Order: sequence, then C-alpha cells, then structure tokens
Amino acid sequence: MALPAVSFGRSFEAGLDPAERASRDEIMSLQRERLAWSLRHAYENVPFYRQKFDAAGVHPSDLRELSDLAKFPFTVKTDLRDNYPFGLFAVPREKLLRVHGSSGTTGKPIVVGYTRADIDMWADVMARSIRAAGVRPGMMVHVAYGYGLFTGGLGAHYGVERLGCTVIPMSGGMTERQVQLIQDFRPDAIMVTPSYMLALLDGFSKAGLDPRASSLKYGIFGAEPWTNAMREEIERDFALDATDIYGLSEVIGPGVAQECVETKDGLHIWEDHFYPEVINPDTGEVLPDGEKGELVFTSLTKEAFPIIRYRTRDLTRLLAGTARPGMRRMEKVTGRSDDMIILRGVNVFPTQIEEILLSVETCSGHYQLELIREGRMDEMTVHAEIREDAYGSTDLDACATRILARIKDTVGITTRIELHAPGDIERTAAGKAKRVIDRRPKG
Ligand code: DLL
Repeated sequence: MALPAVSFGRSFEAGLDPAERASRDEIMSLQRERLAWSLRHAYENVPFYRQKFDAAGVHPSDLRELSDLAKFPFTVKTDLRDNYPFGLFAVPREKLLRVHGSSGTTGKPIVVGYTRADIDMWADVMARSIRAAGVRPGMMVHVAYGYGLFTGGLGAHYGVERLGCTVIPMSGGMTERQVQLIQDFRPDAIMVTPSYMLALLDGFSKAGLDPRASSLKYGIFGAEPWTNAMREEIERDFALDATDIYGLSEVIGPGVAQECVETKDGLHIWEDHFYPEVINPDTGEVLPDGEKGELVFTSLTKEAFPIIRYRTRDLTRLLAGTARPGMRRMEKVTGRSDDMIILRGVNVFPTQIEEILLSVETCSGHYQLELIREGRMDEMTVHAEIREDAYGSTDLDACATRILARIKDTVGITTRIELHAPGDIERTAAGKAKRVIDRRPKG
C-alpha cells in the first residue's frame, strides 16, 4: 500500500510566498492591522507591558498610523533579565512548545518562548530565507549552527525541512568530521557562522581537498558581523554564492532578515512579521530611512513572546526593497551600540566575565578582554588583576584554571587568561573603563 502523500503545509515550488510578492502599500496596511493586534496582545497579557504603557500614558488604541508606534516605550535586554525566566510570556506555560535562550548581561541567559503557531511562523520565514539564498526544494542542506538553547541550529533545521529539503543536523564543532561528511553526503548548501566557515576552509586544506571542488553551491552565513570582503573570500575559495542571514532570539531567532542571492545588496526584512525602526541610540528619536542608527524591532504576529520596540543595539540603516520591492532592506550590521562581543558566533558581555572574576576571591574588579585573530579563528585573552591582599599567597595556576573552567561552564567559550599584579591593568581617570581591546583586523 502506498504511503499517503506528505504535505509540507505550503508549496514553495510555485515560487515566492504571497507576502514576498506584495506591494509596499499592501505590506504597510497588513502591518497596521497586525501592529494593533500585537500591542493589544502584549498589553492585555503581559503585566510588564501594561505597566510600561500605563506609566508612559499610552494605550494600544492610540495607534492609528504606523508612525504612532514612536509613542510607545522601548524594551531592552535588562527587561528580560528582570523578568527571568518566564515573566514576559503572554500565554500560559502549558501553551509553549519550546524555549530558547541567549547571553544576558550577567550569568543568567535571556529566555524566549514559542507556541505552536510561533514555531510554524518561524519555519515559514526560515524557509523563505533559505529559498531567497538560492536553495530549492529537494536540495540537501548541511546545518553547522549550534543546536541547543541557541536559536541557530534548530531555527535553520525547521526552515530546511519546511522548504522541502533534506537537512543534515551537524551542529558545530568536530571540523574534520564536518569536512568528511560534506565530501561524502555532497550537500548543496551550508548554514554556518562565517568564522566557522573559514575554519572549515582550513579543514579542507588539511585534508588535502580542494574546497572549490566541493558540492556546496550556496552558503547562508550569520549570527555575527561579517564584511563584503569576507564574502568575496568565501565565494572565491569555495566557488559558492554566499548570503547574509540576520536575526536575534528576542525577535524570533535567525530569519528576521535575509539577503537575496540575485542582488546580494543587504538583507530584506520580513516585514509582514517584524516591524523595524532605526533610532538615534543617544536620544531614542526615530530616524528616517537611509540614516544610520540602532535597529529596533516590534513583533507583529508572535503569540508566546510578543516584543515591543526592542532595542537590538545593532547599528545599520533601512533602505527601500529591491528583489522584494514590498519589504525594506537593512544594510549589513557593522557594529553595536553596546560592548557585546561576538566570539566565534557566541555572544559575550564583558559583565558576564566580570561576574565570574569577582566570584573568585583572589581577583579584583580590574580586568580587560583582548581579542586577536590567530589564523582564521578569533581568540580572547582575559587579563585579570589579583587583589592586593591575595597577591603573593595565591597559587596563580590553580586560580587561572578555576576561572577558565567557570567561563567555559557558564558562558560556553574557551578563552585564555593572564593574571596580573595589583595595579598592572590600565586605569581610566574618568569615565568608562576600557574593557575590550579588539585587535582583530577590520574589514
Ligand atoms: O545569533 C540568531 C542567528 C542564528 C542569526 C543564526 C543568524 C544565524 P542571538 O544569539 O540572540 O541570535 O544573537 C543576536 O547576533 O543582535 C547581532 O548582534 C548578531 N547577529 C546575528 N546575525 C547577524 C548578522 C542569533 N547576519 C545578535 N550580522 C544580533 C551581524 C548578526 N550580526
């Protein structure tokens, strides 16, 4: 007996999603309707938003035009920490199908949640992104983003399946094995951080293989900033088409915006689900399209974790749509308006390291994080000062080992450490301490 036919829920063979074909006016009218719903949903179901809106003297019914959103208060990362773990959810816990997390500014991660409808929408926007990168149903996709609390692996995985492709759920690490499986399985596309793609390139050379002869035709790279210069290098070395994918856990995960392979001119924001604004990071004023500032997102359709005017801290500007004329593009993210470091795809806040150093009795609060590039990989050295009263009586090797293990266990990264005598680390007479010394090559 034949198995019943399997439906992927939506046929992509026909080409683009209806929203990708919509005009700017159609998208904007959809946004007005959905934004009104999202503000109401947040206000009625999340006490945090109700209190914030009330305190600012605004009510969801004040939204008539999209520009009225500027009257509503911002949400920031520390709001997520203050409501840890489940305080910002708009549905009862039993309605959640999944949670994910990302680095907070302290040891505790930020937590986000998804209903069945949210997971479904996420799979749709990911499928749309992967298709925009050039991948078609029936192809095979190697996913080397990490699987776990991080949204990269599972986000990509569901999108690949939704598009009707074969997914290879590799996750990160074990470079030799990754190279071997790319040779053996012959995937058409790869989804991975750009820095790990460079490590795979070294893996090909080590194995005596020509990366240009690999089966890979499309690469979808994100989770950290990368330049057009790096795009050229990857495209040349692997003979593939490389596009940029952007997203963040607070908004959904990967799949908020994606570059189209036919234009490679910045990332189209999937504006039927995520409403973007760019603001002046110092004043909070909304900037006109084309001006550079901090990107802010409001979710339009999310059930479990609606997010209103979330300050991403990512710096970019909004541009008119090209390959998808109804949806605006964002320029490649070039930097952040805070001190978050992205080390080999993992978000790290200096305050996370600070908390660990201060939990080790022998360290003072004086520290610096030095970033270098060694070969293809970024490395971080923690420079930490020993406290006056502990200096001389401390076993420095044991102390260093303890700190490194704690960083690995809580932040999830391998770093190096140098312990210094009291007073050795540069002090600033006034203003902010310089915590991060970034010696990685720019561009
Ligand atoms: O990094 C989601 C993701 C996974 C995106 C896989 C793309 C691919 P978070 O861990 O919450 O989520 O980190 C979000 O990473 O605010 C940016 O600073 C940075 N980021 C993500 N994509 C890009 C990109 C995922 N394409 C934070 N270019 C964001 C530059 C990026 N920075």
